[in-house]
Amino acid sequence: MIDIHSHILPNVDDGAKDIEESLAMARIYLDNNINKVIATPHYIDGFENCSKDKNIIALEKLKEALYKEGLNLDVYIGNEIYTSMDIVTLLDEERVATLNNSRYVLIEFPMFDIPIFIENIIYELLLKGYVPIIAHPERNKNIIENPNILYNLINKGAMAQLNLPSVEGKYGEKIKTTAEVLLEHNMIHFVGTDAHSQDRRTPNVKNSLHLLKNLVDCKTYDEITFLNPSKIIEDKVFEPSIPKKYKETSGFFNFLKAKMNIF
Ligand SMILES: [Fe+2]
Repeated sequence: MIDIHSHILPNVDDGAKDIEESLAMARIYLDNNINKVIATPHYIDGFENCSKDKNIIALEKLKEALYKEGLNLDVYIGNEIYTSMDIVTLLDEERVATLNNSRYVLIEFPMFDIPIFIENIIYELLLKGYVPIIAHPERNKNIIENPNILYNLINKGAMAQLNLPSVEGKYGEKIKTTAEVLLEHNMIHFVGTDAHSQDRRTPNVKNSLHLLKNLVDCKTYDEITFLNPSKIIEDKVFEPSIPKKYKETSGFFNFLKAKMNIF
C-alpha cells in the first residue's frame, strides 16, 4: 500500500509532535509493509498554518533522520487543504502543496457541511489542470445522509480518498456503514491512514486492510491501495472505475437506517 494521507511531518500541525514521534510512526508504517507515504499537513485558510516552504524544511529534516536510523520509508510533500474559495490562488502562489507536486490536490470538507461553492471549486481546479481528491468523504454528515452528493461530485471530475480506520468502525457505526456503501458503489479511488500519531491515530492499518479485502474485489483492492496512488506519485492520469448511483431502495442501507433509527 501507498499512503496518500498522513500527518507524519513533525511539529507542523496536529500530527507528529516531534521528530521522535515521526520516526515511531515510520517504524509502524514499515511494519505494515508501507514504504511510500505522502505527508499531508492541514492547511486552513485564515488560520495560522505552516507554509509549503516550512513543510519542505520539516520534510528534509525527517528524511535525514530516517536515513540516519536506517528506515527505508519514502516520504513526499503534500497538504490536506481545507475547502476555501481561494484554493486555486493558494496553489498558484505555492502557499500549499499538491500531492508530491503532481496534479492531484487533497481537499478537506467541513465535517458537518458541504460548501455551496464546491462545484465551482472543482470546475476551477480542473480548468487549471488539477485533479481534486476529497479526503474522507465517509466522515461528512451530508454524504452520510446522501451518498449521491459524492456521486455527483465524482461525475463533475472529483476523486475520493477513504480513511482506512473507517472500515473498522473507529469513527463510529454510521461512518463505517457509509464507508461500505461508498466502496460498494465505486466511489472510492484511494485509501489512506490519516495517521496523526504513534498511538491513538496510528498508521497501523493491518486490521483495516484485512477488512477491506472482504469488502471489495481483488482488482479494486489493488487499485485503491497501490495502483491509483502510484499514479499520484508519478503524476500520471488514469481512468477511474465508473461510480454507481446509490439507490434509496438499497436494502442493506435502509435496513440499517431503520434499525439504528438514524438520519
Ligand atoms: Fe488528515
